Amino acid sequence: AAGADIKAPGLNFTSVAANSEDRVVIPEGYEQAVVIAWGDPVLPGAPKFDFDNQTPEAQAQQFGYNNDFTDLIEVDGKPDTYLMVCNQEYTTGKHMFKGYDEKNPTENQVRVEMAAHGLTVVEVKGEPGSGKLTPVLGEYNRRVTASTEFELRGPAAGSWFVKTAADPTGTRVLGTIANCSGGITPWGTMLSGEENYTNYFSGADTPPIDGLKEGWKRYGLGKDSDYHNWGKYEDRFNLAKEINEANRFGYIVELNPHDPRSTPVKHSAMGRFKHEGSNIHVTSNGTVVAYSGDDSKFEYIYKFVSSRKIQQGKGPAAMESNMRILDEGTLYVAKFEGPKVEDGKVPAGGYKGTGKWIALLTVDASGKATSHIDGMPPENVAVYTRVAADKAGATKMDRPEDIQPHPKTGKVYCALTNNSDRGTEGKAGIDAANPRVKNKNGQILEITDDHTGTEFSWDLLLVCGDPAAADTYYGGYDKSKVSRISCPDNVAFDSFGNLWISTDGTQDTFKSNDGLFGVVLEGKDRGLTKQFLTVPYGAETCGPVIRDNRVLVAVQHPGETDDGGAGSPTSHWPDGGTNEPRPAVVAVWKTSGNIGT
Ligand code: FEO
Ligand code: CA
Ligand code: CA
Ligand code: CA
Repeated sequence: AAGADIKAPGLNFTSVAANSEDRVVIPEGYEQAVVIAWGDPVLPGAPKFDFDNQTPEAQAQQFGYNNDFTDLIEVDGKPDTYLMVCNQEYTTGKHMFKGYDEKNPTENQVRVEMAAHGLTVVEVKGEPGSGKLTPVLGEYNRRVTASTEFELRGPAAGSWFVKTAADPTGTRVLGTIANCSGGITPWGTMLSGEENYTNYFSGADTPPIDGLKEGWKRYGLGKDSDYHNWGKYEDRFNLAKEINEANRFGYIVELNPHDPRSTPVKHSAMGRFKHEGSNIHVTSNGTVVAYSGDDSKFEYIYKFVSSRKIQQGKGPAAMESNMRILDEGTLYVAKFEGPKVEDGKVPAGGYKGTGKWIALLTVDASGKATSHIDGMPPENVAVYTRVAADKAGATKMDRPEDIQPHPKTGKVYCALTNNSDRGTEGKAGIDAANPRVKNKNGQILEITDDHTGTEFSWDLLLVCGDPAAADTYYGGYDKSKVSRISCPDNVAFDSFGNLWISTDGTQDTFKSNDGLFGVVLEGKDRGLTKQFLTVPYGAETCGPVIRDNRVLVAVQHPGETDDGGAGSPTSHWPDGGTNEPRPAVVAVWKTSGNIGT
């Protein structure tokens, strides 16, 4: 394609063309290998994967299903060795078990699926002269599942909303689920967003208490919200038997991967919604600012400005203190302002505007919480944050996915993935930051924030979709020379300062596989977009990790297609033959030298 060979610092590869192949397609001169796949051993002594004889006990020691956010944390004193942390977002029984009955899974199947959820920490080791990474069954390896104990902190903790029959204290929650994207903190822990947790609760449409009705409706809880059927075997997932368990999910969770015996934390001061993930910027005076998106149609962008400073070191005392940074501070929601726009008509110079952060909730160093929303006590704001943000008049966005500050410029990049309901009857119309009716392709928002303050300016870097279409914008770059991109999801940065974007939904919009793209941010080539790789049929591109010596992508849900049914194409990646597909993390490296040069 035109422009495939255009080079830019960090993006000196020939762009990969759109395709529908059942493999990971990478540029010429690069190599790839699977790092770890669903079912592979993680804990020392874990059994080998046996598709036909799965047990919850085995799965709890093996790599989980549907890897999403992935990152590498350097291990001190060991060259090219890392703790790889990975979210395991959700399961699809029909790809995991022969003869799976969607309406009526067996208890063994349900318990295997529970153990396939959560988080994984696995040591991985490089090889000289290659980008390949091999798992080491080391002392830090850990699986956190839907049954691992968490400490719930912040204004929700101990409140009526989170007290259950099994936990009358409202502070000890079993498990994390629906972990989508995430981030690594400057103090060395992993953050992970609990996103579509409503898919695990069913049994009642209306709560027995009036005060919960608005919240359940606003979060989409009810009989039809579930497809995992866990409530059949564990009462806590049955809304008819336990009305408050669902209030214990939807948080940012934090895991200390340096201590495999540590208790992970849920931070309710950061609000409860369908958290995609969270990423941190530290200002020059050491203030920690965490950004987070609520990934549903017409939901909001949030930030949390902490009042607690980072303690140096990874020892137990520093870690204990640092894991309280996200418990103290103020939670804000974003309101965007900009000129009036017409559907599909890109203004000369692109879309730009300003905005304000509106305070919702403050927690001080003593733990005392103050609500900034009239009529909502602090614990209500922490648990039903969407309702508080509605009252604050926040701007309804086109599904905020990953949001991450640039490590050098501090500008904040957010993937707004799509919103097919924008501007349709009874729904919010277009605005400058969400400028298209029935937005199928999404956009990339660039926020220039003062981080600790309440004002910002913004710009749309990309308005995604077919470059030949009038309603798309590629940062002002010549659209005839870019790789097409649609449905941006996870974002990351390389050491050259480029933005990398992985996609989820291209199979619907372009009828070709999802991919990973590098985008130039600064200088004359701003907006140049190049496809680095594509993932197998039915898969979503997750991770990603962009390092000088390798790129990692998490290939999520290979073979998962909406068309379904007999005869529809499926995936057999990575094992080939007639094997069921397995989600897996893949390393890609250049045969010679730096990944981007
Ligand atoms: Fe799990 Fe928002 O994607
Ligand atoms: Ca996502
Ligand atoms: Ca990211
Ligand atoms: Ca997505």
